[in-house]
Amino acid sequence: MKKEPRSAEVETLTRSYGREIFARLEGTGPIPFAPSWWDDRLMEWSMGNEAIKLQLFRFVDVLPMLGSPESIVRHLREYFGAAHEHLPGWLRFGLRRLPSRGFLGRLLATLAYRSAERLARKFIAGSNLEEALDAIAQLRRRSLAFTIDRLGEATITEREADQAQADYLELIHGLSRQVNHWKTNDLIDRDEHGPIPRVNVSVKLSALYSQFDPIDPAGVSQAVRRRLRPILHAAREQSAFVNIDMEQYAFKDLTLQIFREILEEDDFRDWPNAGIAIQAYLCDTASDLEALAVWAQRRGTPVTVRLVKGAYWDYETIISAQMGWPNPVWSHKWQTDANYERLTEFLIDNRRWLRPALGSHNVRSLAHALALAHIRGLPPGSIEYQMLYGMAEPIKDVLVSLGQRVRVYTPYGQLLPGMAYLVRRLLENTANESFLRASFTEHVSEEKLLRNPLEVRHIR
Ligand code: 2OP
Repeated sequence: MKKEPRSAEVETLTRSYGREIFARLEGTGPIPFAPSWWDDRLMEWSMGNEAIKLQLFRFVDVLPMLGSPESIVRHLREYFGAAHEHLPGWLRFGLRRLPSRGFLGRLLATLAYRSAERLARKFIAGSNLEEALDAIAQLRRRSLAFTIDRLGEATITEREADQAQADYLELIHGLSRQVNHWKTNDLIDRDEHGPIPRVNVSVKLSALYSQFDPIDPAGVSQAVRRRLRPILHAAREQSAFVNIDMEQYAFKDLTLQIFREILEEDDFRDWPNAGIAIQAYLCDTASDLEALAVWAQRRGTPVTVRLVKGAYWDYETIISAQMGWPNPVWSHKWQTDANYERLTEFLIDNRRWLRPALGSHNVRSLAHALALAHIRGLPPGSIEYQMLYGMAEPIKDVLVSLGQRVRVYTPYGQLLPGMAYLVRRLLENTANESFLRASFTEHVSEEKLLRNPLEVRHIR
């Protein structure tokens, strides 16, 4: 990718956009999560210690599958027993005496379950479509657009895959019936080319086939496309948008292949309302994006690229180490951040074929995109910004106040299929290098937060 010739100008303008965002954030209340004292203490406490954090998340992860109070309490004891030496004395003492039976046992189990549920509700908009619709309506009152995500991934049986397909179809029809009648909001319902779809659905391909295994790309592509085709037909009919989510690295090439193959089919070749998520934490993303731009141009119709940093960093690092494979993700956060800026520029310069949708909660990354868009003379709305439900609320509102289109990734569903999603949110919110943690919890200075990631490299 070519080098930015006017990097000093970009840098100066990035800082000034960054300072503007921080100035507007003043007084909006530093609340990355919901304002519950207990939950914030719990997060802070677990952030402080990796061993406790690990056990807490493992516990949250298995919780929905534990039936009886006995087994909940047993897991509580086992998991936190493993982090024994990191626990404060009173808790160590209490853990040994946890009641697993009778009234107290049931109470404790209910309490643990309720806490996990409350934690989940910060990041998950509701347990059914109706609740999700309420959440979307509330977002719209703040001039925020949405993309909806049905929780549940890595389907294990074909029945589940059928169910996932049926849910997506119901989602597109159900949402369109309501949302398309809402009053127009020019900020989020139009861009420079005209009206844009209001209903926007994010799909994880691993939900659509029980054998989503890269060992048989052609077979998997066929099976997935069979279930995906009616979803895209419905979206086309209802003027909805479908974005394909990116999952773990092992699925990446296959996901890209299916995305390209289905959009080359006659029914979809000229359909612009499809997109795909691309992860900047992967070392091979630059070449993937270049290939995608060439492909989209050949196809003759643009697609949207949701550029994210990537939500499976811990998973990729652990799995590759276990298997003795090279790690597919950058090992330092500044590398991902720097890559994100390079790729942002690539998207902006190739927006004729790859429409940029930038997913980030990092003020530096956002300010950099705003600066580039300004320098290139783009009207607001040519770039879309995307953020996750329940995260960085004040930053969303600030971008709206700057006249930008912000879309909120809004998941809904039950706790059990939502656990993997929840654990990813907990991991990224409590990561040592989380931007939200640094800015809202640790009050790192503005100048530090706005540093060019390439400068951070020299400081480390
Ligand atoms: C995830 O499921 C947001 O798609 C991302 O973690």
